[in-house]
Amino acid sequence: MPESIDSKSLSRQRYAQFADGYVTSETHARGSDLDRLLAIAAPQRQWDVLDIATGGGHTALKFAPHVREVIATDLTPRMLEKAERFIVGERGVKNVRFQQADAEDLPFNADQFDLVTCRIAPHHFPDVPAFLSQCARVLKTGGMLLLQDHLLPDDDTSARYVDAFERLRDPSHNRAYSELEWRALFADAGFSVETAEHYIKRHDFMTWTQRQGNDDATIAQLIQMLRQAPPIATDWMSARDWGTAQATFVNRHIIMRGRVC
Ligand SMILES: C[S@@+](CC[C@H](N)C(=O)[O-])C[C@H]1O[C@@H](n2cnc3c(N)ncnc32)[C@H](O)[C@@H]1O
Repeated sequence: MPESIDSKSLSRQRYAQFADGYVTSETHARGSDLDRLLAIAAPQRQWDVLDIATGGGHTALKFAPHVREVIATDLTPRMLEKAERFIVGERGVKNVRFQQADAEDLPFNADQFDLVTCRIAPHHFPDVPAFLSQCARVLKTGGMLLLQDHLLPDDDTSARYVDAFERLRDPSHNRAYSELEWRALFADAGFSVETAEHYIKRHDFMTWTQRQGNDDATIAQLIQMLRQAPPIATDWMSARDWGTAQATFVNRHIIMRGRVC
C-alpha cells in the first residue's frame, strides 16, 4: 500500500539521520524499563531471541548475557550499523547478530524463537496486526512476546491529541494505542495476555525535541499543544517546570507479555 511505503520510507530516512542520538540516548539506554523487561521475561540460557526494531540496540544488549543468541533487526540499515558498532565494537558482545528486517514481513522461519522483544517501536508500524501475526508465526509454540510501547488514554479525544503531539515531533510516528486496543490486537493475533503494566517515562522536553532534530517553529507548536491540551491529555502528559529550560513531560508506556496460544 502506498501509505505504508511512504510511512516506512519516512522512518528509514529519519532514523538514518538521527541514528547516533538513539545509541547515546539516556532514556533508551538506561531506563529502568529495561530491568523490568528482563524481570518479566525471566529469560533462559538456551533461548533464541529476536529483537524487532532494535534502534540503538539497548534491548538486545540487555538480554544478550542471559540467552543463547539475540538477532537484532531494524528497518533502517544505518541504525543497525550504529547498533552493531556500539554492541560488538564498543561492548565486545559476541552473541548478538544484526539483520535488516521489516517488522511486518520478518525474514525468519516459523517456530524459530523462544522470545520476541519489541521496545518503543510499534507506534511506527503502519500495520500492527501484520506485525503481531509475524511475531506469532516466528515464535515457537508457547513462545513469549514482550512488547513495550507508547500508551494512549482510553478517552478518544485525548488519545488523538496525545498521538498528534507525538507525530508533530516525529512524523514517522504512525499511531499509538490504548490498553484496551492492545489487548484486542493481541487476542486477534492469537496471543494470550499474561501481564500488562504501565510505565512512566519523564522526558526533558528540549532533549526530546533535539533527538528528532525539531526546528524552532515545531518546538513552538509543541509548546502550544501542551498548553492547550484538553484536561485528560494534560493529566496524561503531566508537564512540569513549563516555560523554563528544565521543562519536562511524561510519556506513558505499556509493557505486555503475551504467549502464543
Ligand atoms: C525508538 S527506536 C527503537 C528503540 C529500541 N527498540 C530500544 O530499545 O532502544 C524506533 C526504531 O524503529 C525502527 N522501525 C520503524 N519502522 C520499522 C519497521 N516497519 N520495521 C522494523 N523497524 C522499524 C526505526 O528504524 C527505529 O530504529
